[in-house]
Amino acid sequence: MRKKFVAGNWKMNKTAEEARLLLNELIPALEPFSHVERAVCPPFPYLMMVRHMLEGTNIGMGAQNMHWEASGAFTGEVSPKMVAEFCQYVILGHSERRTYFGETDETVNRKVKSALSTGLTPIVCVGETLAENEAGKTAEVVWRQITEGLKDLLPEEGLKLVIAYEPVWAIGTGRAATAEVAQSVHANVVRPALAHLFGQEVAGQIRIQYGGSVTAKNAPELFAMPDIDGALVGGASLKAGEFAAIVQAAA
Ligand code: G3P
Repeated sequence: MRKKFVAGNWKMNKTAEEARLLLNELIPALEPFSHVERAVCPPFPYLMMVRHMLEGTNIGMGAQNMHWEASGAFTGEVSPKMVAEFCQYVILGHSERRTYFGETDETVNRKVKSALSTGLTPIVCVGETLAENEAGKTAEVVWRQITEGLKDLLPEEGLKLVIAYEPVWAIGTGRAATAEVAQSVHANVVRPALAHLFGQEVAGQIRIQYGGSVTAKNAPELFAMPDIDGALVGGASLKAGEFAAIVQAAA
């Protein structure tokens, strides 16, 4: 049985004070649902504050990105070790990083390896653009992103991964993939690609989140699908009540 995992990706939102207010509301609202793994992923400057606020809870925290190098002259970058001082998780290969910051399957692969060797759980994002979707290339693109992004990992490393299938056309558009479409990509592309890399047994244990316009309204239907093991939530994670309702739907 895969434990459902819901993570909130705050992206580049909130002031420190707004983050504090959100968590004041969110922590008690999430507390009852401990059988769902849940995490928030705030911007870098707030990680230390959020870590303090989450102390004594079993709510996890992730960063939204990191560099693959351990240290050095990389102005403006954050190392895996720095992330691991505060976080259990790190989101890698988000489509916004691929689109606006030139991330590729190769850089994702470096980051995944580096995250794993630092003891972080990578949440690896994959997903096709609208043009790729309309050209019937979803399976091809997602297969490539997984097999290249996770290249050369051992099955025991594969076990530590979380995958987020986030079709780019569904992100921030209010147009989520239907539960059937998401289930079909998870079951027919993502999991077989994982099985190709790590074997059937390991692939069966890896959580696959869905991301893209997840709301309290569509979450129950998505989570009812056998291969949708949780969600990576953007906009709806910025509101305590809505995010808590999504977590509740996974409970
Ligand atoms: O990483 C989560 C994300 O990209 C989905 O964003 O706002 O469509 O829930 P949103």
